[in-house]
Amino acid sequence: MKTKIWLSTFAVVMAAMVIGCKPKGAQSTLAGDAANKVYVPPGQHDEFYNLVSGGFNGQMSVVGLPSGRTLKILPVFSVHPENGWGYSEESKPMLNTANGFVPWDDLHHISVSTTNAEHDGRWAFANGNNTPRIARVDLTTFKTVEIIEIPNSAGNHSSPYITENTEYVVAGTRFSVPTGEDRDVSIDSYKDNFKGTISFLSVDKNSGHMDIAFQIEAPPFNFDLARAGKKKSHGWFFFSTYNTEMAHTLLEVNASQRDKDYIMAVNWKRAEEYIKEGKGKKIKAPYAHNVWDEETHMATSTIKENILSLDPTELKDILYFIPCPKSPHGTDTDPTGEYIIGSGKLAAIIPVFSFTKMLEAIENEDFEGTIGGMPVLNYESVLHGEVEKPGLGPLHTEFDGRGNAYTSMFVSSEVVKWNIETLEVLDRVPTYYSVGHLMIPGGPTGNPHGKYMVAYNKITKDRYLPTGPELAHSAQLYDISGDKMQLLLDFPTIGEPHYAEAFPASLIKDKQVKFYPMEHNNHPRALKGINDARVERDGNNVHVYMTSIRSNFRPDNIEGVRLGDEVYFHVTNLEQDWDVPHGFAIKGANTAEILIMPGETATLKWVPDRVGVFPFYCTDFCSALHQEMQGYIRVSSADSNVPIKYLTGEAE
Ligand code: CUA
Repeated sequence: MKTKIWLSTFAVVMAAMVIGCKPKGAQSTLAGDAANKVYVPPGQHDEFYNLVSGGFNGQMSVVGLPSGRTLKILPVFSVHPENGWGYSEESKPMLNTANGFVPWDDLHHISVSTTNAEHDGRWAFANGNNTPRIARVDLTTFKTVEIIEIPNSAGNHSSPYITENTEYVVAGTRFSVPTGEDRDVSIDSYKDNFKGTISFLSVDKNSGHMDIAFQIEAPPFNFDLARAGKKKSHGWFFFSTYNTEMAHTLLEVNASQRDKDYIMAVNWKRAEEYIKEGKGKKIKAPYAHNVWDEETHMATSTIKENILSLDPTELKDILYFIPCPKSPHGTDTDPTGEYIIGSGKLAAIIPVFSFTKMLEAIENEDFEGTIGGMPVLNYESVLHGEVEKPGLGPLHTEFDGRGNAYTSMFVSSEVVKWNIETLEVLDRVPTYYSVGHLMIPGGPTGNPHGKYMVAYNKITKDRYLPTGPELAHSAQLYDISGDKMQLLLDFPTIGEPHYAEAFPASLIKDKQVKFYPMEHNNHPRALKGINDARVERDGNNVHVYMTSIRSNFRPDNIEGVRLGDEVYFHVTNLEQDWDVPHGFAIKGANTAEILIMPGETATLKWVPDRVGVFPFYCTDFCSALHQEMQGYIRVSSADSNVPIKYLTGEAE
């Protein structure tokens, strides 16, 4: 009896200790119904698609919310051996630039196309930071279909932001650089010879095709992030700037001197009028424009030579500067388009500017000075108000559509909810750890879906099972439907997520392409059926016209290839059914596999470097006889006279 009492007392003490030992924060912020709120039962679908930037892996991931499940890794600027992106002959031109083939980039931000400031689910745009590029992804195929390079730019960080009807996708340069004819200048001539640029890329309403419509020269600041005006502020664009000190060394110190930097307001409607009047000058600035064709299943790359440049020191009413404390990172416009929020990384407050007041200040020439002849507005005149004591290190702000703003705080590692009108702080939740971007589905649009918020954190530390020195980055999902934010879920991410966008799955899920119709396959080396399978020699090039269908390749025995030949396997997947890709890989190829979608043709180039017989096989488990889906190719010496010979399904 005594023992029993002792035991139960022990159990109570142990239970209390277990609760007491939970990591700080976990018990207080995680409510009991969190699991139900993120649980998507087997066979059911998530409510939202979330497109998440991959940062230094140069890709985008597609994540379902609220489950946090990764649905796809979508290659954009970086080669992707999983499906041959950047390895197949057809996709290589997508990664061409004025500097040649660039197989990697640092993808930071995503913008989903909008109509009337609401997500329309047609395209997603993404920026390449390092070799300045903007990509367009088709959201019926989840494939990168266009990449355009941005000349006179370096560190394409302030990008790709879109106007409310996707008239333009916009890119501001992070680094100012020499842009004139002579680019061999001393770095300490920064103030005289370096320039910032803002590029406006037009987007064709129907095809989505982009081109550089015009570029605006700007002072040699660093341009960090941007947002378009919307609704009442449609026609304007807002860019955060830092290093308005115009330092070129040790920016950590030298670019943190001034109390206020600027938000640069661009009147792009006015810029359009100037262009109609014939203003601006054509300047030489080569850039690559790469377009994927869904019928030929291949990309073409064109180098274009000139852009139209506008000089705002001559066209005086297109650029205005709003003082903003202090080294602003994000600038965001609220769903009504009235409020412009600056997030000074080193500022103790969050300034909220009024678009209406900005227009009045411009009208009244209420200026505190000029930069190169361009007006600097009075801070107080444009200010709606300041959020007091929001937290430390504000970076980015999103909106719930109910009059509230949510700002990520890097230094104090939290998300702070506040009211846009009253500027009152309403709630704060910790993040694990050091949140960068945050995302509310539809958050940057005129119509946010204020149900969830995801924090994309920069530091992971102890959140998951440890995996050596390199850890996955971490996202956290919060329920924001009530007064108080509630942490629901941690999930690891691919690469380093920066910005992400999400929208209701219903917007696009019924529009998905399931396979490519064979009758529309206009690839010049496509085969329409197994009877066309063949091998042809053309000088030192050997073209293998190959079909793949469950579960064979035709031809599957190939002879007559000689050392010194380049062999092109043009593989057409004849399947006309959803989810039946075939892969193709050959032993010793210095490349990756190719993964061919049903109805598609893709080409793998192989340069044999030795004599022998080499196997090839299907890499994607396609049927019960997938392991039988294989073949051999014989390589003979350079002077051999073995003729071209192949088998296409004859019985042995
Ligand atoms: Cu085709 Cu496995």
